[in-house]
Amino acid sequence: MFQRACACSSVILLTEWDGFVPGLRELRARRREREIAVLFAVFDEWIARLIAERRISPGGSDLLDRLIAARDPETGRGLGDREVRDQFVTIFIAGHETTAVALVWTWYLLAVHPQIEARLHAELDASPDAPPAYARQVIEEAMRLLPPVPRIPLRQAQADDVICGVRIPKGALVCVAPWVVHRHRTLWADPERFDPDRFAGERPARYAYLPFGAGPRVCIGASLAVTEAVIVLCEIARRYRLKLLNPGEVGMRPRLTLRPMGSIGMELVARGS
Ligand code: HEM
Repeated sequence: MFQRACACSSVILLTEWDGFVPGLRELRARRREREIAVLFAVFDEWIARLIAERRISPGGSDLLDRLIAARDPETGRGLGDREVRDQFVTIFIAGHETTAVALVWTWYLLAVHPQIEARLHAELDASPDAPPAYARQVIEEAMRLLPPVPRIPLRQAQADDVICGVRIPKGALVCVAPWVVHRHRTLWADPERFDPDRFAGERPARYAYLPFGAGPRVCIGASLAVTEAVIVLCEIARRYRLKLLNPGEVGMRPRLTLRPMGSIGMELVARGS
């Protein structure tokens, strides 16, 4: 796969090499579909059983019950089993690892920036009932420096275009990478520095901060994710510090989410002990 980066817009144009070999892309896609079906078989069996049970005894209020009970206001039509399963999987997968990864890197960054960790603890101790403004800034800044989704899934250009002087032919695969945008020197001052105060005042410029994507496909769980992450961070930070056990060995493994390479060893140390 060849990559070309546009220096000013951080748009990356990708050309799939397998497009040059007739039929190869389709073969790879079919093989991948078979692999995915095998990986999902146990889960699909479990969710099918769960959906069947809930259809027999409706009336609960969790996400699955609500998906099953949902009706199109115009047609009165509900979701079929496959649609319920797909919605459930999307929300579960899109909302689970992303927030977890955001918290992992937040704790890592706090561990290597003890003065910021101390300020977070001081804020929480001073005003336990106030909205945790600094904790929110910490989460937002952690998602800037180490975006949980470092590269937004590819888009295919529907027409020829030119972005910042880079020609984008119709059909090309285009990628916007929050990792690159968030470290762009024309958008952020001293971008490599972890500084939650960036989020103390005005919001960042439009499209300069994209942890949740943008436009019609923007993350539907963004508010939930930030609220959830801030609550978890505060609850833990009120009681514990997270001490890094393997500094120097922490690496990244960017996939759809920015996973750590291997594990990050951290020890919960009770505060005040
Ligand atoms: C820190 C946590 C999260 C991050 C960084 C994140 C990031 C993203 C990004 C970048 C996209 C856009 C993908 C694209 O444009 O192709 C997206 C879409 C989506 N997210 Fe999140 N997300 C997070 C949490 C959540 C949560 C908690 C939920 C649900 C409970 C959720 C559900 C979704 C769904 C359903 C979509 C697809 C929206 C669509 O295509 O219309 N996400 N997310």
